[in-house]
Amino acid sequence: MKSLIILYSYHHHNTEKVAKTIASILGADIKLPEDVNPEELQEYDLIGFGSGIYGGVHHKSLLELADKLPEISGKNVFIFSTSGGTDNNRPIKCHSALREKLQSKGYTIVDEFNCKGFFGFVGIGISRGRPNSIDLKNAEDFAQNLLKI
Ligand SMILES: Cc1cc2nc3c(=O)[nH]c(=O)nc-3n(C[C@H](O)[C@H](O)[C@H](O)COP(=O)(O)O)c2cc1C
Repeated sequence: MKSLIILYSYHHHNTEKVAKTIASILGADIKLPEDVNPEELQEYDLIGFGSGIYGGVHHKSLLELADKLPEISGKNVFIFSTSGGTDNNRPIKCHSALREKLQSKGYTIVDEFNCKGFFGFVGIGISRGRPNSIDLKNAEDFAQNLLKI
């Protein structure tokens, strides 16, 4: 199975840790949204889209890429994120914007993953130490399940 992860992670590289864990199980390439040619996505059997959550949604580079994708029928994709706060909603609420764009293009969302990621500036910080080893083990299990789909 040829897999690609499209990743934008800048704040503390939290989502990058999750992406690398998933990629190591899937044997996936990792690319920045700006380096993705929408046409090349046809080559992949499974595509993951992940970033931190900023202002309640994925990074705008992922949302903009989703807008540019050609319509396609039934390509399997997954969505992941890290966020300062907990999102216990199922489906994951902070994934809604990206999910809806991908679904409107005909992509099939096979699974989604979110965990906490440290958010901090001088003097304040929430979710310190996250993602931690348990989060990354959960990401590993998530990726193992993707291999079974
Ligand atoms: C500008 C900005 C906006 C953020 N907005 C949210 C938010 O709306 N909800 C939330 O739970 N976390 C929010 N966070 C925290 C990030 O989602 C969290 O730190 C994430 O792990 C960052 O991922 P990254 O290190 O991969 O960039 C925000 C962080 C930044 C820098």
